[in-house]
Amino acid sequence: MCGIVGFTGKTQAAGFLLDGLERLEYRGYDSAGIAVLDGGKLETVKTTERIKNLKDKTENGKKVKGTIGIGHTRWATHGAPSHENAHPHTSQNRKFAVVHNGIIENYIALREELKAEGVDFVSETDTEVIPQLIEKYYDGDFFSAVAKAVSRLEGSYALGILCADCPDTLIAVKNFSPLIIGLSKDAGFIASDVTAIVSHTKDILYMEDGDMAVLTPEGVKLYDSKGNEISRKPSVINWDVAAAQKSGYDHFMMKEIMEQPGAVARTIESRIRGREIVFDGISLDGEKLKNTERIEIVACGSAYHAGMVGKYLFEELLRIPTEVDYASEFRYRNPIINEGTLTVIISQSGETADTLAALREAKRRGSHVLSIVNVVGSSIANASDDVLYTWAGPEIAVATTKGYSTQLSVLYLLAVWAARILRPEQSARTEKLFDELVKLPELIEKVILSEPKIKEMAKRCGDPESLFFIGRNVDYAVSLEASLKLKEISYIHSEAYAAGELKHGTISLIEEGRTVIALACYEELFEKLLSNIKEVKARGAQVIACAVEGHTEIAKEAENVIYIPKTDPLLLASLEVIPFQIYAYYVALYKGCDIDKPRNLAKSVTVE
Ligand code: F6R
Repeated sequence: MCGIVGFTGKTQAAGFLLDGLERLEYRGYDSAGIAVLDGGKLETVKTTERIKNLKDKTENGKKVKGTIGIGHTRWATHGAPSHENAHPHTSQNRKFAVVHNGIIENYIALREELKAEGVDFVSETDTEVIPQLIEKYYDGDFFSAVAKAVSRLEGSYALGILCADCPDTLIAVKNFSPLIIGLSKDAGFIASDVTAIVSHTKDILYMEDGDMAVLTPEGVKLYDSKGNEISRKPSVINWDVAAAQKSGYDHFMMKEIMEQPGAVARTIESRIRGREIVFDGISLDGEKLKNTERIEIVACGSAYHAGMVGKYLFEELLRIPTEVDYASEFRYRNPIINEGTLTVIISQSGETADTLAALREAKRRGSHVLSIVNVVGSSIANASDDVLYTWAGPEIAVATTKGYSTQLSVLYLLAVWAARILRPEQSARTEKLFDELVKLPELIEKVILSEPKIKEMAKRCGDPESLFFIGRNVDYAVSLEASLKLKEISYIHSEAYAAGELKHGTISLIEEGRTVIALACYEELFEKLLSNIKEVKARGAQVIACAVEGHTEIAKEAENVIYIPKTDPLLLASLEVIPFQIYAYYVALYKGCDIDKPRNLAKSVTVE
C-alpha cells in the first residue's frame, strides 16, 4: 500500500510528482503530500483529501518551485489519515524529508530511543523515526547517514529521501516494498510502480531488496546492502502511457473489463506455437513434474478465487491432490510442504505481503515455487523459482478484473501443458480442452455483448441490504469472486455459498424478497442447482441465474437469466465471471460509489 514518487532533474519537480501520485492513487488515498527542495529549503504541501486537492492548492504544482522532490499517497496503517500523519515526514531541524511505503516493525523502540535524546515527534507514524534517525547520524555525509539509519530499521520499506544540504541528490532505498528507478538523459525518477513514470521514460531499473540508489540529474549510482557500487541492466517497458489511462471510459474498472478479450488472447497466444504450449525460461520440467506429489496454491482475495478454479483443473486433469490456501493462513500454520510439493503462487501485483511471506515459507521447506504474476520485476516474481507472467498490462482499478481473468488463463495453460506430460493416456480429454482454450478470447467477447442487459438488471437491483450467490463446483469458485466484486465496490453485503451447503444453516436467512444469484453453468450439476433454486424460491427469494445457452428451462424458475456460450466445463469461470463484474460495476455506479477507489481498500496490500 501507499505510493511513492521522486524526481531530480533540471525542470520543475512538482508537476511530475503530482501527476505520478495521481497514477499511484489506487495504492492508497487517505492523504497525500509532496516535499520539494528549493534553494536549500524544504517545502512540504499536504492534504487529507485526494491528489486533486493537492493539485488545486499548488496550481498543478506551479506554485512549488524546485527541481528535486518526493511525493506520497497514503493508505493509513500507523495513525489516522491526518495532516500530521501524511507524508513526507521531516526531521526535527527540517534537514531531511522522507516518503515511505512499508512498515517499520521496531519503530516504537527507535522512537523511545530518539525521544530520550530530546527529539520531538509530531506524528503517530512509524515512518517519522526514519528522518529523525538520519538527522541523528548526519555529519555532512548524506549517503552514510542514510546507510546508518537504514541499518537500524526492521521491517519493510521503500524510501525516497531528500537532504536540504544536497540540492540535486535524491536517495532511494528498497527492502521488501516495491521501488523502481526511471532513467533518462538529464533526470532521475523513482516510483512504486511503472505507471507513475512511463510517460517520461521506458528505461527502468528494478531495485532489489537491500539496494540503495543515489540519483542526480547526471545519473544513478546503485549500491548493494554492504555499500558496494553495483551495476544492473535496465529493462525496457513495452507498453505505453495509453495503457494506464482511461481512454474514454468513465472508470478504469470498465475499461479493464472491456480489455479482457485482448488481455486473455495475449496471455494465451504468446505461449502457443502450433499446438505446443511453450513456457520460455522456466526450470520446471517433465522430471520435476513427475516427482510432484501435491500442488499447493497460495494467494489472497481474487487471486485465491482463481486458485480455486486451479484446484478443479489440476485435480481433474493431472490427478494430483491440490490444496488452495489463503496466504495469510498458510504462513502461520505448519503446512505439510516438501520437495514433493509444487507451490503455485498467484498475485496480480506481485507485492502482496502475505503471499510473499508464504512463498518464502514454501521455499524454506524445499518446495519448487512457480508464480503467476502480472507485474514484471515485482518482489514475488523475483523471489520465485519460476514465473509465468499474465501479461494483462497495468491494472489500475482496485477491484481486479483482467488480472483475475489472465490468472485463470495461465492456470489453464499450465494444466494442459502438465497434463500432456503426466497423463498421455488422457490426451483426448486434454486436446479437447486445448481446442476450447484457444477460442476463449472470442467467447469472452461474446459475453461482453450482454452488457446492456446486465446494466438493466443492475438498475433494478437498487440497494438491497444483503444478497446471496450460490453455485456448485466451478460455479461455486466463481460465485466467491462475483460476490467479492459486488461487495468491494458497491458496499452491499453479499455472501457466496456452495449451493449444497445452504440447507445446513444459511437458508434461514432466505426470506421474501431476498435476492439470490444462482450460478448454474456447470452442466453436470445443473439439475442439482435447479433444485437449490426451487428451495430458495419456495421461501420467497428473487432469483437471478446464469446458465449455459440452451438451458432455457431455468427461465421458469428465475426472474432474470444471463446466458453464456457453451465451453469446456473447466473453462467456465472465464465466461461466467464477466457478467458479474459488469453487474457489480453498474450496481456500484447507480449507488454513486467511488468505483475505482472503493473505501478502505488499496490495490496492492504490502502490509500483512
Ligand atoms: C479484489 C482484489 C483483491 C486482490 C488481493 C490479492 O478485487 O483485487 O482481493 O486479488 O488483494 O492481490 P494480488 O493479486 O496483487 O496479490
